[in-house]
Amino acid sequence: MSQKQIKLYYRNVLAEVIGDEHGIARTDFEALAAETTPLITWLNSERKAGRTPYRDLPFRTDISEDVKKLASEVKDDCDNLVVLGIGGSALGNIALQTSLNPYMYNIDAKQRPGPRLFVFDNVDPAQLSSFLNWLGDDNLKRTIFNVISKSGRTAETAGQFLIVRKMLLDRLGPKACKKQIIATTDERQGTLRTIVRKEGYRSLIVPDGVGGRFTVLSAVGLFSAAVCGIDIDSLLAGARDMDARVSSEDFRKNPAAINAAINYHFYTRGKKNSVIMPYCYALKDMADWYRQLWAESLGKSVDLDGNEVHIGPTPIKALGATDQHSQVQLYREGPNDKLFTFLLVENFGSDLVIGPAPDCAPELDYLAGKRIGALLNNEKLATEYALLHDKRPCLTVIFPQVNAYAVGQFICLFEVTTSLVGALFNINPYDQPAVELGKEATFALMGKPGRYKPDLTYDQFAHDIRSRTDIDPHFLV
Ligand code: PA5
Repeated sequence: MSQKQIKLYYRNVLAEVIGDEHGIARTDFEALAAETTPLITWLNSERKAGRTPYRDLPFRTDISEDVKKLASEVKDDCDNLVVLGIGGSALGNIALQTSLNPYMYNIDAKQRPGPRLFVFDNVDPAQLSSFLNWLGDDNLKRTIFNVISKSGRTAETAGQFLIVRKMLLDRLGPKACKKQIIATTDERQGTLRTIVRKEGYRSLIVPDGVGGRFTVLSAVGLFSAAVCGIDIDSLLAGARDMDARVSSEDFRKNPAAINAAINYHFYTRGKKNSVIMPYCYALKDMADWYRQLWAESLGKSVDLDGNEVHIGPTPIKALGATDQHSQVQLYREGPNDKLFTFLLVENFGSDLVIGPAPDCAPELDYLAGKRIGALLNNEKLATEYALLHDKRPCLTVIFPQVNAYAVGQFICLFEVTTSLVGALFNINPYDQPAVELGKEATFALMGKPGRYKPDLTYDQFAHDIRSRTDIDPHFLV
């Protein structure tokens, strides 16, 4: 596998390209370097002190060995792998599968080195019923369910898990249930760990101190990837390669530091939206993964000194060239409040030559004989040119190829960028208190007994929620 490095190209955010009003002047860039450099040093020291354990995941051969061992145990026994999880317990799995396995993976057995993969990261009854109806008894017998939840109590995942567990017990009995459920959860505590102990499921570990959105390079993301034939050693090697680059205390050599500084600069200058736009279908779910990483990590109400800040760039995902025909009108002529990050692929691996135009359509002749990959990449240049014309700042991450080594680098680059933007904003990027409130509110509405807080039962909490959310018919039209 090619071990080329991905690169961040940042000239097109500078004032010399898009003008003084919207671009970064050389002096501002120097100031950003001076402000960010001590934070790289600080982040390195945080890492040494063990306070950013996600940074160590690419080096944890204990985890990858456990994952590979279990993956080889199940691989030949199953035709379907079903992941049940949500947020950080699903988005990385989806992103790895879309980026590193072929588009027709689930449909075409010849393009598939492992079982079909289905990731359910929602509790939509129609979606799940349709899937479960498809699983006849023969298919069900050859299906492994990987339930992933760090806390083990997230309502969506727990709900899905209890449906699947009952189905397995009813249709195939307790032995099959034990064999076909694999749990990925906290090593010692939580509801799912208790169930694992009691019911004897095989299990993997969500490492201590790593929040869901930073877990893709742990057993959370690696297990489904390994079962589906993705080269997880190359993925981790790519992440280690980037880890060295983003540890550099030389600002100009550190792509995460430059990326973070540029994102921070534009946020503080009124460009509060951050559009990520892969020009590659395989990377489209990486944009989803990034969207969660960015939003949950950086959207915070208070800073580390306790000041109310309500800070956080809004991540927006788009796909080139598809969204040129959906979003670009707004991106060019709407408010100049966005930073654009394109993902560009130099070599698509397989490419197609466009056929000749029929005699009746000579105006299509210019396409004949050209590669479709060239069309896509020229569309990226065309869109970038148009955005630059309208003074919109653009970054590009260049992938020599989309392979496990490059994707590992990308994951590490954006995780460390997130930590550094968090440091520049002076906020904690590793918690998600606002998500927790929604989870607790769901428990209350679904009738959980007991207390939400010492002075509030779940029942009282549910009452309060309903008093604010019940539909008032006077306002229905
Ligand atoms: O990033 C996060 O921490 C969240 O998105 C969680 O991953 C998500 O809420 C699921 O939590 P859990 O794995 O505990 O079920």
